[in-house]
Amino acid sequence: MRFDHANGERYEDAGGGRVIHSAPGFPGFPPRLAVELFERARLLTGRERVGLWDPMCGAGGIPTAVALLRPERLQRVLASDVDPAAVTLAAKNLALVTPTGLAERRRELADRGADDDRLAAIDRLLDVPGRSSAPRTDAVEADVTDAGSLARLDLDGIHVALCDLPYGTQTAWSTSTPGRAPAAVALDALERVLPPGAVVVLVTTERDDLRPLQNATRSFKHGHRHIRMYRLGDAARDAD
Ligand SMILES: C[S@@+](CC[C@H](N)C(=O)[O-])C[C@H]1O[C@@H](n2cnc3c(N)ncnc32)[C@H](O)[C@@H]1O
Repeated sequence: MRFDHANGERYEDAGGGRVIHSAPGFPGFPPRLAVELFERARLLTGRERVGLWDPMCGAGGIPTAVALLRPERLQRVLASDVDPAAVTLAAKNLALVTPTGLAERRRELADRGADDDRLAAIDRLLDVPGRSSAPRTDAVEADVTDAGSLARLDLDGIHVALCDLPYGTQTAWSTSTPGRAPAAVALDALERVLPPGAVVVLVTTERDDLRPLQNATRSFKHGHRHIRMYRLGDAARDAD
C-alpha cells in the first residue's frame, strides 16, 4: 500500500515516546498509517470533515495521532475499549489534542528536563492548522462485539470507525459471543449501530481473523498488516 494521503508531516511527533503517553501492554500504532487509513476512509464517506471512532482504542494512539495531525478534518473523536485501563490512558492522550493540553504537556516535560526534540515536537503540533478548533473528544468503556453495548454510546456524527484488532501477545479479544469469529461479530455490531455510508476499517496482523468476513469495499496490505474497509450499505464489494 502506498501512502497517498499521509505525506510531508512529522509523523514521529504523534508517535510513542515523544508527546503521547504510552504504557506496558499497549502496543501503539504507527501515526502515519493512522493518518493514511483515516484519510482513505474519510474520502470513501465523501465528507470534508468526519466524526472518527476507534472502538478498540487501547492507548488511543490512532484517534490521538489523527486529531494531533489533521484536526481540521475532524468534527468529533470517540475512543472506546472493553478494558477500563485502556479507556483511562486513551482519555489522557486525547486531552493532548487541544492547545491547552499540549501546553500543559510541554510544561510537564520541560519540568522533567525532557530533551529539546520532545519540546520541539509539541511546538510543531501546536502550529498544525486547525489546532485552535480541536474536535470534541470522548473516551468510554464498550464491548465492540456487543451491539447492545454500542447502541448505548453517543454515536451522533460518527462516520468512520477505525479498529486495530487485537494481535500478538500484548492484547487479546474479549467477546460476549464466544464461538463466532470475533472480528465478524464486531463488524456485524458496527453495521447495526452506524448509518449507511459510514466506513468501518479493520486492521490486523492476523490474516486468519479476517477470513470469515464478507468481502470488503477495499482491501490493502501494509507490511505485516492486513486492512479491510467496509462502506456500510454498499451492495457490491470487491473480493480479495
Ligand atoms: C491492538 S490493541 C489496540 C491498540 C491501539 N491501536 C493503540 O494505539 O494503543 C487492541 C485493543 O482491543 C481491545 N479489545 C479486545 N476485545 C475488545 C472488545 N470486545 N471490545 C472493545 N475492545 C476490545 C483490547 O483491550 C486492546 O486495547
